[in-house]
Order: sequence, then structure tokens, then C-alpha cells
Amino acid sequence: MEAILIGFMGCGKTTIGKLVAQHLNVPHVDLDDQITAAAGIPIKDIFAKHGEAYFRQLEHKLLLQQMAEHGILSTGGGTSAQPENMRVLKQTTVPVIFLEATAATILKRVCNDQGRPLVNQLDQTDLIALKQSRQQAYQACADLTIATDQTAPDQIAQQILNYL
Ligand code: S3P
Repeated sequence: MEAILIGFMGCGKTTIGKLVAQHLNVPHVDLDDQITAAAGIPIKDIFAKHGEAYFRQLEHKLLLQQMAEHGILSTGGGTSAQPENMRVLKQTTVPVIFLEATAATILKRVCNDQGRPLVNQLDQTDLIALKQSRQQAYQACADLTIATDQTAPDQIAQQILNYL
């Protein structure tokens, strides 16, 4: 991979990952899409039928697989908070970019999303507590941190391109 994007749900990993990939003319890989394709069912159904632990196993396996590929990888919001993934992300020479957003921005972006099982399961307070609990993990994995609240996706993509 040329870069790996991490951060909480709704921070823009997929939107910005696609823009960076377009500029570099390389594939964009969305880890959640890979998991959905491997399981043959949407993420909310993986959680409902098999539980989160099963989802995390698939996520870990596909992260390792995809890191060996070419392109820009957008991870899921929980990927870089799992200890087994943190070890890999801290060690890799691939630049890891943490897209940050405030609690208010996150809630605005994800509150009506039926496809995100954790958004459905948790109330707003617990969702933000989850975000806080992952903050250290995101920071520990990151080579570059970008605040996304006030900046347009194109400009954020440009900041990443300047860094790479
Ligand atoms: C998750 C975030 C989701 C997806 C799954 C679990 C999380 O990815 O991987 O629903 O634990 O925060 P996005 O950040 O792309 O929504």
C-alpha cells in the first residue's frame, strides 16, 4: 500500500482515500468492502449473525492481506484499535494517516447510518466514549494526523499527497 487511512467512523476515511487514490492513479481499497465481499453479507449482518469477534478475525486477516497490495487502504473505525492490528500498523513502513474529527462532527456524519452496527447499538454518549477510548490507539499508529472538521475533502487529500 502507498498509505493507510485510520480514524473513527465518519472521519472521512473512504471519501478521502478515494480522492488520494485517484490523484495517484492507484486502486482504492476499502477494508469494510473486502470484509463484506469475503463474508458474502453486509457488515451489520456479520455482527448480527456471527458477532463482533468473528468480524474482527476477518478484519485482521484481510488487513494483513491487503497491506501487501498496491493502493490506498481505508480501514474501518475499529481496525487500528485492535491490539493485533496495532502491532502491524505501528511496525509497517507504509505511512499511516489518522483522520481526526470532533465528537460533534462524528455525530452529525454518522447518526442516521443504518449500515453501521455500532451506531445502531450505542447511544450518542457511548459512541463518543468509544471514540475517546480509541484515541490513544489511533495516535500510536499514526505517522500523520489531520483534523477534518473544517477542511474540504479535496484539501485533506492534497495534504496527504504532499506528505507522501
Ligand atoms: C467499526 C467501523 C466501521 C466497520 C464496522 C466497525 C468500528 O467502519 O468496520 O461497522 O468498530 O468503529 P467505518 O469506520 O468505515 O464506518
